[in-house]
Amino acid sequence: MSLLTVDSLRIEFGPTSNPLTAVDRVGFSIEAGEVVGLIGESGSGKSLTSRAIMRLVSYPGRITDGSIIFDGRSILEMSPRELRDFRARDVGMIFQDPFSSLNPVYRVGAQLAETLRVNAGLSRRAARNTAVELLDSVGIPDAPRRAMSYPHELSGGMRQRVMIAFATAAKPRLLLADEPTTALDVTTQKQILTLLSDMRHDNTMAMLLVSHDFGVIAQMCDRVVVMYGGRIVESGQILDVYESPRHPYTKTLLASVPHLEVGERGRRRLIPGGQPPQPGTIQQGCVFTPRCSQSREECTRVSMTLEPPDSLHQSACPFEPTSVEPMPLPLVIGGVT
Ligand SMILES: Nc1ncnc2c1ncn2[C@@H]1O[C@H](COP(=O)(O)OP(=O)(O)OP(=O)(O)O)[C@@H](O)[C@H]1O
Ligand SMILES: [Mg+2]
Repeated sequence: MSLLTVDSLRIEFGPTSNPLTAVDRVGFSIEAGEVVGLIGESGSGKSLTSRAIMRLVSYPGRITDGSIIFDGRSILEMSPRELRDFRARDVGMIFQDPFSSLNPVYRVGAQLAETLRVNAGLSRRAARNTAVELLDSVGIPDAPRRAMSYPHELSGGMRQRVMIAFATAAKPRLLLADEPTTALDVTTQKQILTLLSDMRHDNTMAMLLVSHDFGVIAQMCDRVVVMYGGRIVESGQILDVYESPRHPYTKTLLASVPHLEVGERGRRRLIPGGQPPQPGTIQQGCVFTPRCSQSREECTRVSMTLEPPDSLHQSACPFEPTSVEPMPLPLVIGGVT
């Protein structure tokens, strides 16, 4: 049994009479200790999918179909109490915006200690000491002094280390990391990725790493799930997907890797010739059709089923891949350089 199995997940918002679908028929699994990457352009539904696993899709977004099973337990059917325990013990999350999840008016050590006190039932004193130890373990220099800092007094890299300390304090079996390095410079990004992969070996913790950067995914992950317009278009082991991408979107994504440009708020625009679809504008057939260089008439009728079934490498495009050679990537696959 997989540690996590997401099946036919749908997330909608807008009026119930005329809902807009942001995530549709998304399914994937994560084995214990495995690191899975979730990649796709801005707006493809990556954050919604990862937040759904913690049942943290915020209003007006709502999960309207599918199931999410963690270690045999159905997350969507948990009682408030079960859900609280699940969030406190089994799964940790690093959110896309580290400011949104740190309280600006409390010192970081005190916030961490309070979390430990509530979640792990530690005494005040034990929680304070453990908080400092945790800050030290995520590479915060002079942790006793840094624990007294307010979030805004820390650099982006330090703040992200604090977030990692929060997310992994309970030694969860699954870590959801939503763009953990996007806002950071290249050097700090490398340090944070190294920290995350170290924690993975120490804790044998599984991870869902959300990124729009294939370089980051390739360095960290065993497998990758590619999303576009709220759908999964391809999934497979990193090397298989990298060396023989099967969906035209994945091919374009890989081919455009060296030409990434940093866009608004550090996000990257990947593909020339238009924008990804907005929820609600998705028509029949394959969501990538309007931007696909290989689209044909049948594409408006395909069901986007991931094929072949039961294979490790699956694609939602039923047509034979034609060659769009991916360009060489300046990275080492399989380890942080
Ligand atoms: N709580 C919500 N309620 C309603 N709509 C939402 C909600 N969260 C996200 N959306 C919309 O759903 C779509 C997918 O959003 P999501 O945040 O999952 O994208 P993403 O892939 O994480 O993008 P990015 O790379 O920019 O972080 C977007 O069009 C977004 O505007
Ligand atoms: Mg996001």
